[in-house]
Amino acid sequence: MRPQYRLLLAVLATAALLGPLAYMWQNSRLPASYSVMDMGYVDYGGGARSAHHQAGVSVADLVEPSDRAADVTVDLVAREGTFKLPSGLEVEGFTFNGKSPGPTITATVGDLVEVHVRNETVPEGVSVHWHGIDVPNAEDGVAGVTQDAIRRGEDYTYRFVVDHVGTYWYHSHQVAHSQVQRGLFGSFVVLPERDDQRLDVAALAHTYAGVPTLNGEEEATTVTAPSGQVTRVRVTNTDNSSVRVWSGTPYRVLAVDGYDVNKPTPVEAAYVDVAAGGRVDLEVVAPARVQVGSTALVVGSDPGEVEEPAERLDLLGYGSPGPPPLDVTSPDREFRYAIGRRPGFVSGKPGLWWSINGHLWPNVPMFLVDEGDVVVFTIKNTSGDIHPMHLHGHHAVVLSRDGEPATGSPLWVDSFDVANDETVQIAFVADNPGIWMDHCHNLNHAAEGLVAHLMYSGVTTPYLLGSDSGNEPE
Ligand code: C2O
Ligand code: CU
Repeated sequence: MRPQYRLLLAVLATAALLGPLAYMWQNSRLPASYSVMDMGYVDYGGGARSAHHQAGVSVADLVEPSDRAADVTVDLVAREGTFKLPSGLEVEGFTFNGKSPGPTITATVGDLVEVHVRNETVPEGVSVHWHGIDVPNAEDGVAGVTQDAIRRGEDYTYRFVVDHVGTYWYHSHQVAHSQVQRGLFGSFVVLPERDDQRLDVAALAHTYAGVPTLNGEEEATTVTAPSGQVTRVRVTNTDNSSVRVWSGTPYRVLAVDGYDVNKPTPVEAAYVDVAAGGRVDLEVVAPARVQVGSTALVVGSDPGEVEEPAERLDLLGYGSPGPPPLDVTSPDREFRYAIGRRPGFVSGKPGLWWSINGHLWPNVPMFLVDEGDVVVFTIKNTSGDIHPMHLHGHHAVVLSRDGEPATGSPLWVDSFDVANDETVQIAFVADNPGIWMDHCHNLNHAAEGLVAHLMYSGVTTPYLLGSDSGNEPE
C-alpha cells in the first residue's frame, strides 16, 4: 500500500473510533442551564402515557394548604467555618446556628412547622431537605428542582405540617455530598400527642473528617436514667454507608424510618443494619449500652462494651404482618431501577460510572406516575457496590428481597440498602404530587450520577440546574 493511502486509512480508522467517542462525550456534557424535566427519557412503567410537559401545576405551587399560624418556629443560620469536636479536633465545615449537628427540631404530630433559614456565609448556597418527612413538594428543599439554592445573605422559609410521628433528619440538598458530610444537618423528631413515660434520646451518627461521632461526641454519650427506665433511642445514620447497631441487653426495634413496627419482639445477640440516611428507633431498658458502630449511647450506668454480634436481624422477617399494607395485585406502574456500572462519560468526564437501566447520568429515566397510582419498583443492583436508595416525598413498603417475600411487620422505608447482586421490590401509592428525587444516599455516588426522579404527570418546575443556575443538588 502506498504511504499516502496508509495515512488516509489511519485517519479514517481514528475518525471511526473517535467519532462515537466524541458523540458520547458531547452527549454527556450538560448545558450551562437546563431543566430537570428535560433530563433523560420518560419511563411510563407500563402505565398511561400521560402528557408530562403540558402546563399543569408548578412545583412552586405545591405548598402546604394550611394557612393557620405556625405551632413550631425554628431559625436556622447556615455558616461556613471551623468547629471543634470535644477532643479538640478542628473540622473545616459548615454549621447550623454555630454547631454541627444543628439544633434538634422537635414537633408534635399535626403541628405546622415553620423554619426560617438564613445563609450567612456559605459561598455555594444552601437548601434544607427534610429527610423522610413527606412534605408538599415545594418544601422538599432540592436546589434546582423545588427551589433555588439560598445564596449568601438570603433568607428562605419552609412551611409544612408534620402528619406522621417518627424519627427524621434534615440536611442541605445543595452540593449535598460535601455540605452534609461537612456538617449541615440535624435531627428532626415528631412526637405523638400523648406524652408517654418513655425516656427519648437522639443518637445521630456522623463521621467528621474520618472521625466517627454520636450526637457530635467522639466518646460514648451517656444519659442519666434510673435502673428500669424504658428508653427510646432514635438512631439516625447521617453517613454515606450503613452502620451496625446492637445492645448487650435485649432490645426491640420500635420503628424504622419513622414508621412503627407491628408487634416488635425482643432481640438478643443480633445487630441491626441502618442504611445511610435511615433511622431505627430502639427500645432498651436502663442500664443499657446501645453500640452504634464504634460509638455508643449509654443509658444509666454503663454495663460495659459488648462485642458485635455475628448475626444480623433481618427486618423483612421481624414483627408481625397484620393486615396487608397495600394491594399490589395489579399495580398501575411497574418500574425497573437497575443499577450497574460501565465505562463512559458523565459531564464530559471519562470513567467507570453508575448506570441506571443501562444509561449514564443525565440520560437517565424520569419515572412518570399519575396521582393515585399504585407503583411497584424493582431495584436490581449488579454494580459491584452497595447502594442506600432514598425516595423523596413517599414511604414505600418492602415487598421482597431476591424474590423472597417479606414475612414480618410491614416494613415502610424511605432509605434502604440494596446490596450488590441483590434485588429489592418496593411498592407505594403516588399520593404526593411533585418532582421527587430517587437517588443513592451514599452522597458521593449521587454526585457521580446515581440520581433519577419520580415525576407526576402535569407537574412542572420553573427552577433550573447547570452552572449558570448556581443549583447543584448532589
Ligand atoms: Cu437525604 Cu435527597 O436526600
Ligand atoms: Cu450508591
